[in-house]
Amino acid sequence: RIAYVNGSYQLHAEASVHVEDRGVQFSDGVYEVIAVAGGRPLDLPGHMARLRRSLDELRIALPMPPRCLGVVMREVTRRNRVRNGIVYVQINRGVWRRDHPFPPETVSPTVVVTARSGLGPGPAVVERGVRVATLPDQRWARRDIKSVSLLPNVMAKQAAHEAGAYEAWQVDGDGYVTEGSSTNAWIVTRDGTLVTRPVSADILAGITRQTLLALARAEGLAVEERAFTVEEAKAAREAFLSSTTSLALAVVAIDDAPVANGAPGSITTRLRALYQDHMR
Ligand code: PDD
Repeated sequence: RIAYVNGSYQLHAEASVHVEDRGVQFSDGVYEVIAVAGGRPLDLPGHMARLRRSLDELRIALPMPPRCLGVVMREVTRRNRVRNGIVYVQINRGVWRRDHPFPPETVSPTVVVTARSGLGPGPAVVERGVRVATLPDQRWARRDIKSVSLLPNVMAKQAAHEAGAYEAWQVDGDGYVTEGSSTNAWIVTRDGTLVTRPVSADILAGITRQTLLALARAEGLAVEERAFTVEEAKAAREAFLSSTTSLALAVVAIDDAPVANGAPGSITTRLRALYQDHMR
C-alpha cells in the first residue's frame, strides 16, 4: 500500500508525520473521507468545498492548489488499486516547537492522503438495519468544521458499540438529535415527510446528506429540514442515518424501542437505491 505525505508517495507501512506535528499535539487539523466508486472519487467538488471551508475557518492554508490535491487523491486511489473504497485526506497546521498559538506563516501544513478498499456495512447489515443508542452530545460548538479533534465522537461511538448499537445519536440540551458520531440523522414522519436537521454549527454538513436531499426532492418526496426529538424519532415511521461510508442505512431501533415494525422502511430503501444509482 502507498500513502502520500507532503509531496511524496511512500510505503504505507513506513509513512509518518513528525512528532511535533500540530495534528499530533493539538488535533490541529482537518480531514475528509471520500467514497471511491468504480475507481473514481464520488462527489469530489462537494468534499473539496467543505475541506476548503474547514481550512478557512481554522485559518490553515492549503499548501497546494485544490486541483493538485484532486490529482494526488486520484493517484493514491490508483496506486492502491482501489475500485470501491475510500480516500482519506488530512491536513494539519504543520510542524513547530510545541506552543499553543499558530506557528509562523512560513510553516507549511502537513498533507496526508491514504486510500483503502471496502465501503460500507455488508448486505446482511443493510437488510436488517441497525440500532442506534442516544447519548448527550458532548462535542464543541463548531461541529460544522470537519476537525480531526474527534475524542467526543470516539467516546460516543464506543459507548454505542458497548450497548450493542451501530451508532450513537447525540442529543442536544433540549432533547433534539443533532447527528450521529460519524453520520447524519434522519426520520420519516407518519405522513411520509423526510426530516433532517438543518445545516448549522450544530452538525457537520454531510455530503451524503446533501446528495440525499437532492435525490429526495427530485423524487417529489416531502422534505423538511428541521430538528427532531428522540421521542419523535421513536414514534417515526422510518429512521435512517447517512454518511460517505454507510450511504443511507436504515435505523430499526432507537435505544430499546423498535422504529415502527423494526424493519427497514420503504422510503429508506428507495433512497438507498437512488443513492447507489448516483454512485454508478
Ligand atoms: N464522517 N456527521 C459527522 C460528525 C461525521 O463525521 C460525518 C462523516 C458525517 C457524514 O458526512 P458525509 O456524508 O460527508 O460523509 C456527519 C466520516 C465518514 C468519518 O469520520 O469517517
